[in-house]
Amino acid sequence: MKVLVIGNGGREHALCWHLATRSNATDIYCAPGSAGIAQHAQVVNISVDETPQLADFAEEMQIDLTIVGPEIPLALGVVNEFKKRGLAIFGPTLEAAQLESSKIFAKEFMRRHDIPTADFEIAHDPSELRAAVGKFGLPVALKADGLAAGKGVILAKTDADLDEACRLFFEDRVFGVSSDRVLVEEFLEGPEVSFIGVSDGERFLPFATAKDYKRIGEGDLGPNTGGMGAHSPSGVASAEVAREVLDTVMLPTISGMAAEGNPFVGFLYGGIMLTDDGPKTLEFNVRLGDPEAQALLLRLDSDLVTLLSAGAAGDFSQQRLRFKREAAACLVLAAAGYPGSPSKGASIVGLDSVAGDAVVFHAGTKASASGGFEVSGGRVLNVCATGAGLREALRSAYHATQGIQFSGQQLRGDIGRQVVESTSIAHSGIFPVMKLDDSKA
Ligand code: AMP
Ligand code: GLY
Repeated sequence: MKVLVIGNGGREHALCWHLATRSNATDIYCAPGSAGIAQHAQVVNISVDETPQLADFAEEMQIDLTIVGPEIPLALGVVNEFKKRGLAIFGPTLEAAQLESSKIFAKEFMRRHDIPTADFEIAHDPSELRAAVGKFGLPVALKADGLAAGKGVILAKTDADLDEACRLFFEDRVFGVSSDRVLVEEFLEGPEVSFIGVSDGERFLPFATAKDYKRIGEGDLGPNTGGMGAHSPSGVASAEVAREVLDTVMLPTISGMAAEGNPFVGFLYGGIMLTDDGPKTLEFNVRLGDPEAQALLLRLDSDLVTLLSAGAAGDFSQQRLRFKREAAACLVLAAAGYPGSPSKGASIVGLDSVAGDAVVFHAGTKASASGGFEVSGGRVLNVCATGAGLREALRSAYHATQGIQFSGQQLRGDIGRQVVESTSIAHSGIFPVMKLDDSKA
């Protein structure tokens, strides 16, 4: 089987690693890939937004299955183009990808289908925004409608925050057309969990739960990033809560999209907040989370080619997912200056020191003139490990980071700490892997 992966980050490295080590893929290509990904796949010099060129390549090379990593090609309609040409691809169409590419589409969809989420209003200008804030009271969550690389959300606590948000959205237009419409949301509180699974358009197979850490600083302080670490299981959602999210969010989303004529095929990610009023959906992503995918793929014991080919063909009826009972952790080593302006060019030493259970995925590196690797992006490396439990997985991953060095390296020292130290986890079962029999749509 010839497989093409679209993307170039740590998530795509993990996908290529999984395909190379645990599947029946014979030829693995990655576009555009990276020097790190080249350890497991043949890299192809086509970028993620070059839709016709990606389809031309898949046609010429007779690719049997294409897997899409990031949201941009999905929002541009790469799946529509591949399907038009009769090429097998696993991911949502442009129409179904609106669950991520338009936050307002997602909120209106959830309202139509009674999927639990924060109450909201839509604002087109500062006066509408202030009127909406009047309805909810401060604090509120303000979100640019369109894609903003995870940066279009402002949590406004004071009037000054509102002024600043109005300036960013409507005057400086730092998110461009993405903030032509702004969501004003009721403020929710509670621990966050990432629920991910795969759909064939009708059925949904849930993955094990995961948790990511979005803030740059320890104690969840400082600006949002693409993610500074993740682990699976989440450690904060019991099997009962996972079941509730499946029943109230994930399955109604799949059936609602199908009922509206936009069946959702692909990885579906629900960012869920566990509030005192039950689980509520903060956002959907129409792809694997990054860095959640790196931890989840370490645990996934099913052949991705068989699974995703069945998904692309719209038939999960014979598929079962298996996750190892061990836990997995992923730690992000980020560049100096990330998430603002990451500095590039530092050479990376010690990659060879990583041994045992640990695996390193490359997120923002390139080959250096000296034959090693150097920093080329904000999130540089993903150091991942498995272990009997979360504590052991985290310990191994932290241990593996010790030998890796580059100038200005940032690593959060508290990934998973609160979860591991929480007494409730010891009693709620640390491996809430959902049984497949529970998951038939
Ligand atoms: P999103 O990209 O929509 O997931 O939002 C990014 C982050 O903002 C989330 O991970 C939450 O921590 C926070 N957030 C989003 N929506 C809300 C809300 N309605 N209330 C409180 N926090 C929120
Ligand atoms: N880790 C969250 C995301 O991929 O958007």
